Amino acid sequence: MTSPEHPTHEPEHFADVVAGLPSLEGRTVAVTGSTSGTGAVFASTAASLGARVVLLNRPSPRATASAAALEAAGAHVVPIACDLQRFESVRLAAADVAEAAPDGIDVLCNNAGVMGLADVATPDGCDVQMQTNHLSHFLLTSLLWPLLAAASEARGEARVVNHSSGARRGAPLRAAYLEPRGGNLGGDGFPGFGKWRRYQQSKLANLLFTYALSDRMPEADRLRGMKSVCAHPGPTDSGLQAKTAGAGGTRLLDRAILRRTLRVAHSVEDGTMGILCASFEPDVDDGQFYGPAGRGEPGPAVLLPPERDPAAERLLWDVSERTTGVTDFFGADSAV
Ligand SMILES: NC(=O)c1ccc[n+]([C@@H]2O[C@H](COP(=O)([O-])OP(=O)(O)OC[C@H]3O[C@@H](n4cnc5c(N)ncnc54)[C@H](OP(=O)(O)O)[C@@H]3O)[C@@H](O)[C@H]2O)c1
Repeated sequence: MTSPEHPTHEPEHFADVVAGLPSLEGRTVAVTGSTSGTGAVFASTAASLGARVVLLNRPSPRATASAAALEAAGAHVVPIACDLQRFESVRLAAADVAEAAPDGIDVLCNNAGVMGLADVATPDGCDVQMQTNHLSHFLLTSLLWPLLAAASEARGEARVVNHSSGARRGAPLRAAYLEPRGGNLGGDGFPGFGKWRRYQQSKLANLLFTYALSDRMPEADRLRGMKSVCAHPGPTDSGLQAKTAGAGGTRLLDRAILRRTLRVAHSVEDGTMGILCASFEPDVDDGQFYGPAGRGEPGPAVLLPPERDPAAERLLWDVSERTTGVTDFFGADSAV
């Protein structure tokens, strides 16, 4: 559907970026949220470069159909059930990944996300946006750390790639959003800003987690080539906006945000360039952050200046550990 408010977006830079990526033969790549959007493009691109791709999705007809479509196109995929709204599902998924990928995970791309949802609690009592977008990825990364370490030991490198957003800006991180206080975090009343604040906090958490992980990883892991990297896609016509609207995002403010995003957005392929570069470009350094150069604008993925905030990173790490029940991020709670 093309209109002045929702123009058609064709890929501009995607083919050039993919042409510059190395072969991924012999690598295993895991991605969350591959049923649509950037996760779907990421999964098919990784598979086309030769990787075995572990697809971590909540069970749904979309998950089944998207995995089947990749397989029909000749991709080597391993679908695993992983509902990021439930810590127990993440724990079960990590155990399944350990069984499916005994040779390790070369890249874990924490891509999945939801946006602008109502102030509701997950079954674990957390905010639905924060648990889906950050807390479950924090837990998943901890559980899969030994598999990432195994890949770096065997092949000299492994990466955790988080997917943030231009929406990360706006307010410093507050502990309350990371705590099990779902349903009590700003509500859904007038003027309807609460849902956007909760999304902002979750996307800020993605970037802070990247830096906190980079600082805290054991020296032996760093020397073995383990890296914590981040990207944001820029405004992207992925279908995410329609899901927000479908979930009740009909206030004036919602409509203004969603319309503005779609007016300036780039294609979903171009929106995937950041996580593709962060995951597969050679010579990526630990702690790097990719995204379009412009603020709130689309464009080629470039290296962005660091946005370090040690106090917020410490807060993020400590409260995420408490809420997810992780007591030894790099060791005792792991999947293997
Ligand atoms: N599009 C943009 O303009 C934009 C801008 C900035 C950042 N981002 C970020 O980019 C990432 C990808 O979003 P997208 O734009 O590609 O949106 P999308 O097309 O809606 O994709 C989101 C993916 O996340 C999955 N997901 C949602 N809830 C889940 C859960 N509980 N468990 C497991 N998977 C779940 C969805 O699967 P289901 O089919 O199960 O729902 C879907 O596969 C997100 O982190 C988002 O915050 C997007």
